[in-house]
Amino acid sequence: MSTGKETAKDSERVIIFDTTMRDGEQSPGASMNLSEKLRIAEVLEEMGVDVIEAGFPIASEGDFEAVNEVAKLVTESTVCGLARASRVDIERAAEAVKPAKRPRIHTFISTSPLHMKYKLQMEPDDVYAAVIDSVSRARNLVDDVEWSCEDGSRTEHDFMCRCVEAAIDAGATTVNIPDTVGYALPDEFAAIIAMLKNRVPNIDKAVISVHCHNDLGLAVANSLAAVKAGARQVECTINGLGERAGNAAMEEIVMALRTRADLMPYKPNIVTEHITKASRLVSTITGFTVQPNKAIVGANAFAHESGIHQDGMLKHASTYEIMTPESVGLTESKLVLGKHSGRHAFREKLKELGYDIGANAVEDAFKRFKDLADIKKDVFDEDIVALVDETVVRTNDHIKLESLEVLCGTMHRPPKAELTLSIEGEVKSTGSAVEGDGPVDAIFKAIKQLTGQTPHLQLYQVHAVTQGTDAQAEVTVRLEENGKTVNGQGADTDTMVASAKAYINALNKLLVKRKKTAPAALSA
Ligand code: KIV
Ligand code: ZN
Repeated sequence: MSTGKETAKDSERVIIFDTTMRDGEQSPGASMNLSEKLRIAEVLEEMGVDVIEAGFPIASEGDFEAVNEVAKLVTESTVCGLARASRVDIERAAEAVKPAKRPRIHTFISTSPLHMKYKLQMEPDDVYAAVIDSVSRARNLVDDVEWSCEDGSRTEHDFMCRCVEAAIDAGATTVNIPDTVGYALPDEFAAIIAMLKNRVPNIDKAVISVHCHNDLGLAVANSLAAVKAGARQVECTINGLGERAGNAAMEEIVMALRTRADLMPYKPNIVTEHITKASRLVSTITGFTVQPNKAIVGANAFAHESGIHQDGMLKHASTYEIMTPESVGLTESKLVLGKHSGRHAFREKLKELGYDIGANAVEDAFKRFKDLADIKKDVFDEDIVALVDETVVRTNDHIKLESLEVLCGTMHRPPKAELTLSIEGEVKSTGSAVEGDGPVDAIFKAIKQLTGQTPHLQLYQVHAVTQGTDAQAEVTVRLEENGKTVNGQGADTDTMVASAKAYINALNKLLVKRKKTAPAALSA
């Protein structure tokens, strides 16, 4: 794809394949709804991601719809759908990616002795035949086919070479070697790539890709070792999201290649300045907070506390800084607007922050900004982001918060909440106050009482959007019902209001999910 940036020699170009919305979403609790996936897809495309794996179309209607809508939205990146080695999976994936300008089907089958025997209960020869059948079938439907040997790092080398050769002969344009269980060590994994290059006669007809999991904390190291050995596609996720210990973190791979270009002259086409924005978006949507000391995107990644470091930094930034905060899009928190700022300045700020939302959403966000500026003296970029995210998230809500009053503290035991909600347009109040073990518990009980919804609370998390006691609280609530999980977000300078908003937001998402499977009425 072209981003107008410097283009690397083809032999040095590293294709970045993002699987945040597929493998990342497989992480328990990291669910994303359609509009959230579309927002992530937009940011990934803006970053210059080459391939976006948007889901596993056969897995559910929701996954199909997400891949299909991302395929309609995205114009620059390739849009990919995952499929097992079966006719129905492949046809479903083909249908989902059909609207894409650059559609790809990614089909996979396990090739390790362990997986073939216990998971697939298939003989190697049958797996080999399935490789040929699945890739040819996919190749009849799209021009761009990726084939993966699941549990690649524990696959016998001779069998891997046979399967890779057959997949390429059948039409695979990319062959992906996953370290599915995060078992490989860098030298060992690099040797697999070198072996494929040496032993598979048609290997030059396909791109070699790698897909590493982080069970031993080696996903990025293994991916980079593989690139050095000849892999030219890396599969990764924002913030390293993914099953168990996660996948290789895109931001770490890209920044390692950029920072150590002296030893690793391989070029991804990523606009690294978008990394922070993408990281925050994925973290907000999934409720998976980034640890403060996480490389590249952790809150402390560019903080220099110790006196010796600060002194060095003041003398010359490169004494302790191997990359600049600006290179990953981290800028000083800027004081943006005050309560006297008008619509024009607000719209300009939205543009600067990369928001392109409709006129109604701008008007709604502006009103909420004015309310915030009345309470909070200094309004920062982060405040605007939280506020707009909330505005976008809350459109079409069935349940809306009308008012909340909480009594708590040492003089009010037990804490009580009085709540009014609008449910499908009908206003309902608790009347008398609802008691709880704490103020948040009282609020959640009041919401349950009014809506009649009692999903299981899996996560309640608060984080401050900016510094200071007048900071907005951003609350994430994860609810689970019949195996389906959703994450709700709410932001407000009042933590109790933010908590109520987050719970209601999660309930709204659950309602949409429920409606998609079976019609269910709101009670109470
Ligand atoms: O980890 C894995 O093996 C996968 C494949 C589907 C590529 O996610
Ligand atoms: Zn995986």
